[in-house]
Amino acid sequence: MSAPAVRTRDLRCRFAGEAGPVDALRGINLDVERGSFVAIMGPSGSGKTTLLHCAAGLRVPTSGTVELDGVNLSGLDETRLAELRRRRVGFVFQSFNLLPALTAAENIELPLRLDSRQVDPRHTAALLARVGLGNRDRHRPDQLSGGQKQRVAVARALITNPEVVFADEPTGALDIRSAREVLTLVRQLADQGQTIIMVTHDPVAASFSDQVLFLADGLIVDRLARPSAPAVASRMATLVESAERAANAAGVR
Ligand SMILES: Nc1ncnc2c1ncn2[C@@H]1O[C@H](COP(=O)(O)OP(=O)(O)OP(=O)(O)O)[C@@H](O)[C@H]1O
Ligand SMILES: [Mg+2]
Repeated sequence: MSAPAVRTRDLRCRFAGEAGPVDALRGINLDVERGSFVAIMGPSGSGKTTLLHCAAGLRVPTSGTVELDGVNLSGLDETRLAELRRRRVGFVFQSFNLLPALTAAENIELPLRLDSRQVDPRHTAALLARVGLGNRDRHRPDQLSGGQKQRVAVARALITNPEVVFADEPTGALDIRSAREVLTLVRQLADQGQTIIMVTHDPVAASFSDQVLFLADGLIVDRLARPSAPAVASRMATLVESAERAANAAGVR
């Protein structure tokens, strides 16, 4: 059996908050199988972004382990970790993070250039076609719609052929139609074998995944396989309610 794409064991992350320490992650055990598409949901502040950053090697956890394709990240020094981030993982952000002065094709090629690697224009063209933007290679970001910008960002995340693509609310800045285009694309990538971990607040977005993990207060408290949007929405409503009850109780004390 090959190693899962991502495995975490007793992953904990504590921040030094102004009003005392904040335990953003309190013991996360996670196995993401290769080629699966996992959505992470939970109330605001439940630790979703922190989990994504720790799993992707962007943040060093306080304790516990992260393995990416069988490689234990805590065994890597900063140089090796940076190399792993450049070569083994891809990122998609809510705000696209494209460079405005570069064309779509140049934005997509940037991870390779930053890594002093050879750029093959045929590979770039194939990726543009794969995200449905075959005729937009010379457009700059301000000449593209939100959905098109995010599809460029997805192509950029794929150029290094990463083990895992991590996305933090990739449809958060998009209208319903563009969001659906991006989610359909992400679903296709997963069907082609790309491992994807996506944080989202949107039950419809989560319903494109194979499995939803629900986070509350730094812990995985529930899972839903083959999720439907109404089922996800109903579990989220319960979680948000109990998070609010807990916050109110803490305020009363
Ligand atoms: N750099 C930081 N310093 C101090 N506290 C932090 C830091 N980053 C996150 N936190 C705290 O850790 C907890 C989890 O934050 P995180 O950003 O992971 O939540 P989230 O689930 O992504 O929330 P949202 O849905 O609002 O994006 C929160 O209480 C947050 O205030
Ligand atoms: Mg977040």
